[in-house]
Formats: sequence, structure tokens, C-alpha cells
Amino acid sequence: MIQQKGSFFLLETDGTTYCFRVTEQGFLQHLYYGKRLSLGADLAALVPQGGLWPGDSSGWRRGGPAICLEDTALEVSAPGLGDLREPFAVVRTAAGDTLTDFRFESAEILAEKPPLEGLPSSLGGDAQTLRVTLTERRAGLRLELCYTAFDSCDVITRSARLVNLGGQPVTVLRLMSNQVDFYGQDYIMTTFNGAWGREFEPTRTPCGPGGVTGGSRTGTSSSKANPFVMLHSQAASEVQGHCYGFHLLYSGSHYECACGNAYGKLRFLQGIQPEGFSWRLEAGESFTAPEAAMTWGWGFSAMSRNLHRFIRAHVLRGWWRDRPRPVLINSWESFYFKFNQEGLLRLARQGKELGAELFVLDDGWFGKRDADNCSLGDWTTVNAKKLPGGLRDLADRIRDLGLDFGLWVEPEMVSEDSDLFRAHPDWILGRMEQAIGRNQLILDMGRPEIQNHLIETLTQVFEEARPAYVKWDMNRILTDTWSAALPPDRQGEACHRYVLGLYRVLEELCARFPKILFECCAGGGNRTDLGMLCYMPQVWLSDNTDALCRCRMQYYASFGYPQCVWGAHVSASPNHQTLRTAPLESRFHVAAMGLLGYELDLGALSEEERAAIAAQIAFYKEHRQTLQYGQLFRLRDGTDGFWQMMASDGKNALVLLFQPENRANAPALRLTARGLRPEAVYRLTTRPCGFQTEESEDILSTGSVLMDWGVWLKQGFSGVGREPQTRMMGDSGSRLYLLEETSSDKNC
Ligand code: GLA
Repeated sequence: MIQQKGSFFLLETDGTTYCFRVTEQGFLQHLYYGKRLSLGADLAALVPQGGLWPGDSSGWRRGGPAICLEDTALEVSAPGLGDLREPFAVVRTAAGDTLTDFRFESAEILAEKPPLEGLPSSLGGDAQTLRVTLTERRAGLRLELCYTAFDSCDVITRSARLVNLGGQPVTVLRLMSNQVDFYGQDYIMTTFNGAWGREFEPTRTPCGPGGVTGGSRTGTSSSKANPFVMLHSQAASEVQGHCYGFHLLYSGSHYECACGNAYGKLRFLQGIQPEGFSWRLEAGESFTAPEAAMTWGWGFSAMSRNLHRFIRAHVLRGWWRDRPRPVLINSWESFYFKFNQEGLLRLARQGKELGAELFVLDDGWFGKRDADNCSLGDWTTVNAKKLPGGLRDLADRIRDLGLDFGLWVEPEMVSEDSDLFRAHPDWILGRMEQAIGRNQLILDMGRPEIQNHLIETLTQVFEEARPAYVKWDMNRILTDTWSAALPPDRQGEACHRYVLGLYRVLEELCARFPKILFECCAGGGNRTDLGMLCYMPQVWLSDNTDALCRCRMQYYASFGYPQCVWGAHVSASPNHQTLRTAPLESRFHVAAMGLLGYELDLGALSEEERAAIAAQIAFYKEHRQTLQYGQLFRLRDGTDGFWQMMASDGKNALVLLFQPENRANAPALRLTARGLRPEAVYRLTTRPCGFQTEESEDILSTGSVLMDWGVWLKQGFSGVGREPQTRMMGDSGSRLYLLEETSSDKNC
């Protein structure tokens, strides 16, 4: 719910309050964001008292009580007015300077959320939107800020649009998407960094009077710095502490910063990476910054729950949004580039026998591609050596087996050794002499003729093969971003134009093929962001499928993303990325905390292992709704421990216990659950594992005991106790427990 009360704007969701006002001078002063307040009629109590400014600071007197912007929390900021913190907007005007003085002009509350031009954005549903318009008179600029309040998921989104109403062109040097000025600096900024194969490694940086900056420069949202970041109190845990979560619905280079000032305030900014960016805005044109989303929760659990709900209800969309996602078998780690039709069909048949529903033909099916050094771009030429009958023939045969057919493509790329490159050497982004990544060049996606080419080529491929699923890959980062299509003074636009071009292609293909399940991959998780999730409801979180690494990665990804968005596969052991061995059941248990797939040569497995996989898939299908769409609880702080997926009716849950490393003589384990009904009685059992003999739990307990104290699990092997009812669990060992509500309370 959004209200305007005089000069105050009040945004209230079920659990949060966001408030700001227009000062006497027309600046937007931020007053509060956090836990919902019970506010009386008079909002003035939220306004800091002041009117003086010390020493060498400067401020504004005209129009009312004096205001020093250096020490004022603001909704937007620009250089040249006395606010020394990093600005929200920097525009070089026709006069050559960057002084822009945006003052309040008007505001309106909209029942419908306006779409963002050329950019994906969250679906508003019945959420209200506040549009505040500010004017910069000298340069003739209008700045529109939109705030949408999503009541039930406690999320507020923001976006900004700059319109050039003056007669002269201006250059936008930065236009952020979100600015939140905090009253206090006692926060940790947690960013999720990493690299290929080790996505979502958290970095905790204490905030203070200096600045903490992060973001990506790869042209993608990046595995090196995800656009989901958190600001939280020092001692925040799953269940307590102020926790703010911030997302950007954008798939290019992004920027986050938390900079303190000399007066104990902290500014959070998020938006397009300003380094290297500029955008020339002709008279009459507008520039729209991507949408940002934020939430507050008491404890990380509450914060994540809000974001999960928001993403599921307002970011994901289309045919697949709430549908059960298929269990797949992927050819990549099974065969890499070395396959033929017979081998693929064998793998598909084996997958089908074990219960898989979708067969995905990964890289290597087109042109003369037998290695990663050729043929990208030649999507309409099938590799006739491997697939003599063509793509349609293979796809039909797969479908005849009773499986859906899925296909890998990497449309934004081109190999030097390809017909596409030979025909259009000038279509690449960057100069010919450039750093090369995975032997491939990048198409300049900002150019409409390239977008049109991809739309038509892929339409042809999809119409031919009729895939139910498409894995959209993007295997290198943007380095040289010079665009042959742009004049010198517009080169700063190339990266953003690339992202806009990509969105246009996706928009069109999703409209033409609304029932294709797209999975976003970029060398693993190089583009895990809410922008892509607006088109593709799932992402390949990482090329690293090692159970231990994945358990950690999925744990940290879950702070900002729900488990229904990430693909997770059971692969071979020793693992191809880490050489680590892990029990087959652990590989399954970890992959089951996401969208399950198999990516290994099923023909190389023993009968026992195959039987175990058949049992895994049957189990997954039985509990698929809970595993994919249930409420996720991280039961302990830290990655080594328990996860819980809770069915939406609250009657059953699955709890994963994962042990990265076995410690000799380790303390006894108590399993504590969350989200249960305190008075209900639950039965806790162990998922029986295929061919391994294990101890089995069978415990009856009330929800209250399970949540407030926990139940003791059987003793683990401690150098002694080689007995059937000892938990024999080594490194990367795991158990999956079932919690089911039962009417019986005997023995309780
Ligand atoms: C990337 C993807 C992999 C696989 C290969 C194929 O690395 O992340 O899953 O599709 O490309 O080349």
C-alpha cells in the first residue's frame, strides 16, 4: 500500500515500511526503511531535526529550514550540490559540466506498474506504484522514479528514467537503479563472488566511513560478483538481525557500493556499472535504468523467504513458472564432443529406463564441431558425421522413446572458423585483434541486423527440432567492447546495447515459443540474475557438479534465489571439476535440492548403481513439488549442516544432512526443523538408499520438540561402532530425512 500524506510518501508492505518526504527546497529526503512501523497520523517524528551545518560543509537555505546535503539521507543524489557521497545520477549537460539539480515536481500513485522500455521487469499484479517526477530546469531534464510495493512478499522495487526535454543532447554518465541511505554504518555488506566453477562465494566486508564497492565488469552479471547483495547487522543470523537483500534485474555489468560519510550515514547504490559507460541522450529521448528489488527481513531466513516469494510470483513467468520441471539426462559430461547418433540414443534409452523425462543434446551437434574451436554461428548446419539423419530425425527418435527433446545453443557467439564469420566478419564485438576466450568471438548483440538474424535462425532451428527445452549458453566474457556500429562518442553504449539486444532476441523467441523451457547457462553461473529469469525460469548455477562444492554454492545462492531456479546434476565420480569422489546417494541428495538432472554416462555404471538411480528418480518425482517449490529453510548458520524443504501445506518436509568432512569422534547430532505446526505430531524417517545399507531413523515427535529443541539422531561412527545402526558417513556423506505429519501420537 502506498500513500501520499502531504509532503510525505509512505510505502507499506505487510512487514516493512519505507518512507521519504519532499523537503522545503524540493529535495527527496529518505526517512526510513525497515521493519513495519505503526505510524500515527504525524510522520514528522521520522524527520531528523537539524538546520545547522558545521565547519566547512555547505548547504541550502532558500525555501525553508537550512539543509546540508552532505548530511542528509536522500532518495537520489547528483554531483555539485554539496552531497559528497557517490551520486545516483551523473549527466554531462550541453554546458559541459555535471551539475544537475533535480527538484521535486509531482507524484502520482498508479494502480498498474508501467513496463520498462526495452528491459525486463517484475510483474506488478495488483501492486501499487508511486511515480515521483523531478525536474532539472537548467539542462531541461526530467527524472522519473518509480517505486512498487509488493505487499505480501515485502519487496519494494525501484526504477529510474531520465528524459531529455531540453533542446540539446546530454550524456548520461551514470544512472543508478537504487539508492538507499541508511542512518548508521554498523552493517556488513555481503557480496557473492567467485569465478568459473566456484560461483557464490560470500565476501563479508564491514561498512564504515569509507566505501565498499563491488560489481562486475565482464559484460555479464558474472560469476565473479552476483548482482544479489546483502547489507546486514554484524551479528545477523538466520533468525535475527536486520537483513536487507538487494537484486538488480539486469544481465550486464553491474555496480554495488556502500559508502559511508562523515556523519554516520551509509549510502547503498546499485545499478549499471558506470565504469566505461556513457549514453548520449538526444533532445526528446529517454534512458531507462534497470529495475532494482529490495527487501528487509529480521534474520536471513525472513529476508530469503521474501525474495523467494517475489521471484516465484513476480519474476518467473510463462508456461513453466509453476509447472513441475522435468528430470533430465544431459549429454555433455557423458560424452563431451565425442558422440554419434547411436550413442545418444543409447544414453536416452538408458535414461528413459531409469525414469528421466527429458534428453538434452548439449554442445557438438552442429557445423563440424568436434572441439570448441569452430562452428559457433552455424546453427542451421547439423554435424552430418554425427547425426546423419539430421536434428529432426534424432529429436523424433528421442520423442519416440517417450522422452522430450532438449537442445544446447550458444547464439551470442561466433567461431572464427565458421560460415557465419566468413560471411560477416564485421559482426563481431571488438576489434579483430582481441583477447580470445574459449576460442570464440562475440557477436555485437546491440545491432538490430544481428538480433534479426538470430531470431530468424533460431526460429528455424526450433521449428525443425521442436525442442521442449533449450539450454542457452554464453561461454566467454566481454573484453574488447568496441562496436563497429557506433560513432566514437557513443562507444560507451556498446555493453548496455548488447544487453538490450539480447533481451530483444529473448523477448521475441519467448513469444514465438512460449512452451519451450529455457535454461540460462553462461559457462555455468556467469549470468544468474533476475533479468535472465524474466525469460528463462531456470539457470545452470555452475559447471561444478561436485556434491560438496554444490552444497555450499546452493546454500549461498539460496540467500537470494529459490531452489526452483537452479539446475543441479548428478555427475560422475571422481568429479570432473574437482577429482573428488562422493557417494552416488550424496550426489543425488544435493542435486535433489534443485532441478534434478543426470550428466554422466549411464552405460558406464553398474547394475546396482543404475537401480539406485531409478530409485532416486522415483523418489524425486514423488516429492518433486516439495523439492522444487517447497519453502526452503537453512537450518543452521554455515554450510555444513541441514537444509529443509517444506511442502506448502506444511504437512511434510525433507531434510538434507550433508557432511563435507568426517571428523573422528564427532559430537552427537541433533536435527532441528522449522516451519512445522507445534502441536502436530511428525514421524521422522530416513530415505532408504538404493544399494547401500544404512542405519534408519524412525522417530515420532511433536513439531514443538522438533523446532524448539530437536531430535537426536543415531550415533555416528567414532572409530568404534561398526554396527548396522551406527551412522557410517564419510566425507561428502549425506542423509535425506522425511518428516511427515501423522495423526498418531503414541510413543511421543
Ligand atoms: C559450458 C556449459 C556446459 C556445457 C559446455 C558445452 O561450459 O556451462 O554445461 O554446455 O559449455 O560447451
